[in-house]
Amino acid sequence: MLTHCILGMDHGGLALRPVLIGTLGALAVKFEDLGVHGPESVDYPDYAHRVAERVAAAWASAERHVFGLLVCGSGQGMAMTANRHRDVRAAVCEHALAAELARAHNNANVLCLGARLIGAGPAESALTAFVQTPYAGGRHDGRVAAIDVF
Ligand code: RB5
Repeated sequence: MLTHCILGMDHGGLALRPVLIGTLGALAVKFEDLGVHGPESVDYPDYAHRVAERVAAAWASAERHVFGLLVCGSGQGMAMTANRHRDVRAAVCEHALAAELARAHNNANVLCLGARLIGAGPAESALTAFVQTPYAGGRHDGRVAAIDVF
């Protein structure tokens, strides 16, 4: 299970902040909050790079209980940026099944959410599924290993 979260968001993600922090608490997941904390307009790549660097370093050290949680308006800019980092597999998920499959089949280690696309309920269930679903391994190992072109 994933037990340590590196959290980052831009101003577009703030609406989901309370429910996500509450969900992390309910799941007993520790988290480090890399911001943003207020409504000022910021640039999502700054936050995505910070979170992705932390996740990449953790997974390079076999600390696979660490995951990233990135929130912006759509989730897309965060995912595009985070996926530029080696060993980072960021997935935009709009519901629990998407999150479950991203973990089980793709060994995703960063969950990206779009606060303009989903509300509190789907965000909570997607985060819960992401945290609780283990990577399935087996036939997926070769495919996941073939993702990187670095
Ligand atoms: C910010 O306006 C918005 O572009 C950002 O939150 C995100 O949706 C980008 O992918």
